[in-house]
Amino acid sequence: MKNLTSLTPSEEKILKLLKTSQEALSGEKLAQALGLSRVAIWKKIKKLKEKKYPLLTTKKGYILQNKDLFLKEELDEVITSSSLVDEIVYFLETSSTMDIAKDLADRGKRALIIAEKQLQGRGRLGRSWESAEGGLWFTLILMEALPLKRVFLLTYLSALATALAIKDTFNLLATVKWPNDVLIEGKKVAGILLEIKAEVDQLLYALIGIGINVNNAVLNKEFLHPATSISEELQKKVSRLPLLKNFLIHFERLLQEPEQILPLWKERSETLGKWVKIVTQKDTIVGKAVDIDEEGALMVITESGEVKRVFSGDCFHLRNVSL
Ligand code: BTN
Repeated sequence: MKNLTSLTPSEEKILKLLKTSQEALSGEKLAQALGLSRVAIWKKIKKLKEKKYPLLTTKKGYILQNKDLFLKEELDEVITSSSLVDEIVYFLETSSTMDIAKDLADRGKRALIIAEKQLQGRGRLGRSWESAEGGLWFTLILMEALPLKRVFLLTYLSALATALAIKDTFNLLATVKWPNDVLIEGKKVAGILLEIKAEVDQLLYALIGIGINVNNAVLNKEFLHPATSISEELQKKVSRLPLLKNFLIHFERLLQEPEQILPLWKERSETLGKWVKIVTQKDTIVGKAVDIDEEGALMVITESGEVKRVFSGDCFHLRNVSL
């Protein structure tokens, strides 16, 4: 694993001990475990703090304040079990995993980029994406995965894999909302951002950005766009590693069976069958969402009976419709 907040083996070991310990660990205990002097441990703790690891020094010893940080060995396991990822680049803090991914993809890397916190996280339609510590923020680089005409499937695939992973990991029923959201009880828990590079009619790479509200506080709740997090739904903090692993399992399986993606997405869809208002750059469409066609467009039947095909836009599920 390449890690831009790169750590020495003894720093990794200290983090592992602190992550797995329920209580503070004294310099003496750490010194014994690593076969080093207390002064050497003190220096390494200082280095880790300089690298922005959230370490607290108390009278009883050292505490890792965020126990859900990923360890190198955990991320190495993810690489080993994945057929799509050759390396993981892990940041405690970065601008946006999309920017890092673009750089790496331009150099031909099949990488997964994860950040604990993004300073310039971005969402669809040029919006910013709140990316505080505790969420699962990552971008997966996919090289030439699908013919360009079928690339739209990647958004559906990613939302579906996220919903299935949430169900498998936390036993929470997650549904999908057109075009790119994952919901729990009607509230947004995750969003997908797809960016691609293509030439003539060939896909060069796709950057799949996934943001899942896990243990982070969800601050920007709006009436029209209600949001939630896994920890809010379960009323406890959870571990993100199994969620990431399950996401990759579902993603890789569905990528092998592309004909399954739309039928399975439709089964979990919160949008189909509902009255919707879709705001696109050009106009606003109100009608009943009835299907996704073979080109990935949402089919909406308006009040006048006209069938509109919509490829992107902001979708609102209408509760009380009086047309
Ligand atoms: C949306 O619902 O508008 C899409 C949100 C996508 C957010 C993720 S978090 C990881 C990746 N990096 C970003 O800056 N954005 C995506």
